[in-house]
Amino acid sequence: MKTITVGEREIREVVSMKEAIDAVRQGFVDLAAGEFEMPTRTALRDGQFLVMSAHHRPTASAMFKTLSVNFERKPAIAGTVIWSETGHLDHLVADAGSVTALRTGAVVGVATDLLAPPEAGRLTLIGAGGQAPDQVRAVHAVRPLCQLTVVDADLGRARDLVERLAPELAGVELLTATDAVPAVRQADIVCCATNATTPLFPESALPEQVHVNAIGAYRPTMRELPDELLAGSTVIVDELDAILEESGEIIHALESGAITRDALTELGTALSAPSPDHGKRTVFKSVGVAVQDWAVARLLADRFLA
Ligand SMILES: NC(=O)c1ccc[n+]([C@@H]2O[C@H](COP(=O)([O-])OP(=O)(O)OC[C@H]3O[C@@H](n4cnc5c(N)ncnc54)[C@H](O)[C@@H]3O)[C@@H](O)[C@H]2O)c1
Repeated sequence: MKTITVGEREIREVVSMKEAIDAVRQGFVDLAAGEFEMPTRTALRDGQFLVMSAHHRPTASAMFKTLSVNFERKPAIAGTVIWSETGHLDHLVADAGSVTALRTGAVVGVATDLLAPPEAGRLTLIGAGGQAPDQVRAVHAVRPLCQLTVVDADLGRARDLVERLAPELAGVELLTATDAVPAVRQADIVCCATNATTPLFPESALPEQVHVNAIGAYRPTMRELPDELLAGSTVIVDELDAILEESGEIIHALESGAITRDALTELGTALSAPSPDHGKRTVFKSVGVAVQDWAVARLLADRFLA
């Protein structure tokens, strides 16, 4: 029996963002088709420790992930992904920080490709932390960007991120800001990737047509989006049970009566249904589910356990 350990550099070399997007998209289609067993994750110490798992029945393969989360620490997210198959003795252990950033970007790529208008080219990203680079890469993979504005409460972080991404974004106008309100006004696509506990902008700051991705809030006490935006938009979520347990903005909007449960559509269902009306604002809310990690871990297993 062998245990193969895969670090950040190898993960980045082996899995491109485009491959991650395709794998995660197929994962959500298969989730909607009932191919996965995926319990709601365990959260300890109010979400500072997380345990996630997904079992893909047709291949008898499973992914188990443990994370520790600490926003005082850089990176905030660290842990281990384990890939296991009943047909093999060998296991793969991968760096969970890299897998998480890649698969969280990838699901935003899937949702943006599904929901944003084809000509959308101006992205405003709020939050320049560990998740941020892959949020940009994912959107750029499905909607070639002409303008990127990075907003962070810490302007130095926004500037560092833009500097790091510049070589990958030739020809893209790069801007930074600390105030989200003017920065979202001109956006075609907004990505929210912060640890905020109150909405990042009012609904009135957004243009009439916009697609918003929100991946930051993963506890009932956290929110990035205002109720009014959710009430007036087509809302797609990663997985309903996880969202109802963990998404602060969805729980808040349900409790205030701004939305009802039947306003929420799961991503896997939306991928199998006809395209939504592009005239309306669209929101994709993700708390992150294990099928995403399974999809990326499978790419690693194909490469390293073959
Ligand atoms: N949905 C998912 O699958 C998923 C996956 C990974 C992380 N997350 C969550 O995404 C969030 C970001 O993760 P990270 O690893 O990038 O964290 P991080 O701590 O590295 O970065 C967060 C950034 O947000 C900025 N920020 C916080 N509040 C802000 C505000 N009101 N306005 C502007 N900027 C603000 C901070 O200055 C910081 O730079 C966390 O809440 C994390 O738990 C979700």
